[in-house]
Amino acid sequence: MQIKARFFSLLAIISLLAILIPRANVYAAWPAPVRGKHAMVVSQHELASRVGVEILKKGGNAVDAAVAVGLALAVVYPEAGNIGGGGFMVIHDSKGGNHAIDYREMAPAAASRDVFVGSDGKLIKGEGSSTIGYRASGVPGTLAGFELAFKKYGSGKVKWSELVEPARRLAADGYVLSYRLARLFRDYSEGLSKYPESKRIFLNNGKFFNEGDLFKQPDLAATLGRVERFGAREFYTGRTAELIAADMKANNGLITVEDLKNYQAKEREPLIGSYRGHKIISMPPPSSGGIVMLEALNILEGYDVAKMQYNSAEKYHYLAEAMRRAFADRAEFMGDPDFADVPTAALVSKSYAAKRRESIQKDKASNSNEVGHGAPAGHESMDTTNFAVVDKDGTMVVNTYTINDLYGSQVTAKGTGILLNDEMDDFAARPGEPNMFGLIQGERNAVKGGKRPLSSMTPTIVLRPDGSVWFGVGARGGPRIISAVLQTVINVIDHKMDIQAAIDAPRIHHQWLPDQLTTEPIGFSPDTTVILKAYGHKLASSWVASATGLMIDTNGVRLGAIDSRSDGLAVGY
Ligand code: DON
Repeated sequence: MQIKARFFSLLAIISLLAILIPRANVYAAWPAPVRGKHAMVVSQHELASRVGVEILKKGGNAVDAAVAVGLALAVVYPEAGNIGGGGFMVIHDSKGGNHAIDYREMAPAAASRDVFVGSDGKLIKGEGSSTIGYRASGVPGTLAGFELAFKKYGSGKVKWSELVEPARRLAADGYVLSYRLARLFRDYSEGLSKYPESKRIFLNNGKFFNEGDLFKQPDLAATLGRVERFGAREFYTGRTAELIAADMKANNGLITVEDLKNYQAKEREPLIGSYRGHKIISMPPPSSGGIVMLEALNILEGYDVAKMQYNSAEKYHYLAEAMRRAFADRAEFMGDPDFADVPTAALVSKSYAAKRRESIQKDKASNSNEVGHGAPAGHESMDTTNFAVVDKDGTMVVNTYTINDLYGSQVTAKGTGILLNDEMDDFAARPGEPNMFGLIQGERNAVKGGKRPLSSMTPTIVLRPDGSVWFGVGARGGPRIISAVLQTVINVIDHKMDIQAAIDAPRIHHQWLPDQLTTEPIGFSPDTTVILKAYGHKLASSWVASATGLMIDTNGVRLGAIDSRSDGLAVGY
């Protein structure tokens, strides 16, 4: 009798807790975030994260550490880490300042609007296209961006050479290949083997590498050695520039010494918006990420998302409709702001979101062909990886950079060990025709010499309503990056998840066209999909990006999270 009474009181307590505890426990289980008392580094390779911690312990700040992590990833994570690509860095400094560094690749001067259209009027495939080979590369921005960040926002307590040296050492001494990396080289052997230097370096001259092999990159070590001694300008005006330009010339590529000399990283005004009283700091154009995410968040602010069960059909329906509209605006209005007029302020205004919300129906999917872009005020018609660092003073850095495809253009510039990007495919190679991510893009993102291709990378930092820094997140995965970051923000703010759960939770993706709602293979109940189908959504199944994030809890403890969908390590101390 007593046991029975105890059982029922226990049941009552559990039921009460189920009501009181925020609805965070949507998964059977997820790993706890990694904890650090002082600082935290998250990246997609353990060795790179450890390099970041080494710099912090030497007295460097989060910006110094981020630069060292980025350089190390160029060695230990060649599928996406790079000095042959570009990206974006968002910084919230310990004094409360917000900064955004744009080191996106630039189209070489000789790239014209139809550079990827053949004489038959069709998009070129294979060599000469925007996706593989020498013409696919934009002028890399990574080193210029890292040097700008270091000089302007670094602590001044560590030298540039100290940030480059760990990467140089990893390239010279080598590191042990994981199962994943050894397998990935093989998976990409078809493309990599087309280019002799890539075949020699990454495919062991056709003999392949195996898990456990020591992988050394002497050419890359020599390049990093020069960059260590002479700074980023060596890459743009020194021996490295000459080597890249010579290899381009010999292979019908477009990048010249002039293009490299003219490359400039730029500081942009960070894009700042809000979601339910929290300040959101993200990347402005030439990334579409910040605008698309903020427009979607603004639309969702009109609904009681917290009240909807986190994985309910109702919530996914509104989320998909918000994404559909924001991505339709991406296609029409976004491009490099130095070349195209992008109505950024209007697109992220609350009043514009209210107008976009008007066409959303409660239980009926819209048709993307009918939705189209909106009319923001003042408008006249007319393989990536994210890493982040938070230091002891509370400076937080979220950095996403990329060479686009895994292993970029598959080309390694002769004599440099540098894998070059295929970022030219992020332009609208022909406006109106889909790129490799199925994105339809417009005239504002047409190819032009000196222009930066539109990106979806969304490094983002969120503050608490009292203005203190709360969490940072970014992702890899093309346009799905935006969906992953958006849903992480919602999962933390509306569904009260910690950073690990918010990143791991199943997500959806909708990019307007193709008109399909992508749900992930795990974590969606068949009942939910039945309802979404009944609303008229056309469902597809696939993974939606992979993210990395940081959070500072109310006690100041630093929490780090790597997406369970991918590899990497959070290291704190
Ligand atoms: O900038 C962009 O939007 C793309 N180049 C990102 C590519 C990407 O995320 C590939 N992912 N693994």
